[in-house]
Amino acid sequence: MRRIGFHNREKELKEIKNLLDAEPSLITFIYGPINSGKTALINHLIEQLPDDYLVFYINLRTKLLASYDDFIESLFEMELETEERNRKRKETLKELISSVTKVAGIPINRAFLDYVFKDKKPKNAFSYIIKLFEAVRDSGKQPVLVLDELQKIGDVKVNGPLIYELFNFFIDLTKELHLAHVFVITSDSLFIERVYSEAMLEGRCRYLLVDDFDYETTMVFLDKYEFSEKEKEAVWEYCGGKPVCMVELTNAKMCAKEIEGEAKRLLKIRTSQIQSLFDEIALGKVEYSERAITDEFKYFEKDEIVRYDRINKEKLFLVGRNVLFIDPTQRILKPQSRLNLLAIRAVVRNG
Ligand SMILES: Nc1ncnc2c1ncn2[C@@H]1O[C@H](COP(=O)(O)OP(=O)(O)OP(=O)(O)O)[C@@H](O)[C@H]1O
Ligand SMILES: [Mg+2]
Repeated sequence: MRRIGFHNREKELKEIKNLLDAEPSLITFIYGPINSGKTALINHLIEQLPDDYLVFYINLRTKLLASYDDFIESLFEMELETEERNRKRKETLKELISSVTKVAGIPINRAFLDYVFKDKKPKNAFSYIIKLFEAVRDSGKQPVLVLDELQKIGDVKVNGPLIYELFNFFIDLTKELHLAHVFVITSDSLFIERVYSEAMLEGRCRYLLVDDFDYETTMVFLDKYEFSEKEKEAVWEYCGGKPVCMVELTNAKMCAKEIEGEAKRLLKIRTSQIQSLFDEIALGKVEYSERAITDEFKYFEKDEIVRYDRINKEKLFLVGRNVLFIDPTQRILKPQSRLNLLAIRAVVRNG
């Protein structure tokens, strides 16, 4: 089986490495359109980091987070108890971190579990993590906490939304204690839109955009896989620099499929998915009018990026449905991908 290697991202990697060189001071939000390669980037970075960084990477994507306990559980990785450990019974934090390889969830054992879940207070879990990170630092390593798909905790509540408790904890780790670097990744741009206007985070975080590849970077990728000029043109026309789409078409090429036909097939699927929003409107499942949604699409008839003065609920609806991507730091809206742009244009034409 041929595997497609990690491509470029030199600018973003350099930026993150610079942050890691300095003392932790702000929370870093990594955001960008869906499938732009945020998770791939951070995983690639983790592989490259020298051993004096200990990364605790937690991806909430696959976790079922129906309750507060689910969330706390998702943070920790229970250490398997070997015979020898059983005999020793109580382990210290120092012993616990010595068992951590380069990247893992936050280790815990039975001795600390009761404390963490006691009273259902996030405070207990967070103070355990702080103690653990202090032990990491005392061992000469720099702790780094990465939470991927954080928006998934949106519905979990503990005396009000958990997210506020969590943001306070992140501020503690960074700006207050300078103990750990904190990276929060999200593919949900509605979440970033909310975070961006959150008063408690003002002056306490920074934003790092991971966008689709630009033209040049895309061409270097395509040259690597020996695309012809005509094929390169088709990839750029239909997929732009969306990594996942480029990978899909590269795999199609390896199976000797015709690239333009394959790209057109992807476009047809996306167009039909966007069209089905109108079916939902017709069936009364969605409260917006067809006209108002079409008006939003019309902004993209000629332009690829639109600057907004005021946000409205139709725009947010299309962002929530992953048709549009919103960047509140620039106050711009754009389709989630080139394929979405072409699909929007097809829908407007057909409508
Ligand atoms: N730099 C890269 N080089 C090669 N392939 C990449 C690169 N970045 C992403 N990919 C490919 O694109 C796919 C999607 O990337 P990834 O899952 O990292 O995107 P994401 O931005 O995290 O998506 P989501 O918005 O769903 O969280 C990956 O599985 C990988 O195949
Ligand atoms: Mg991801």
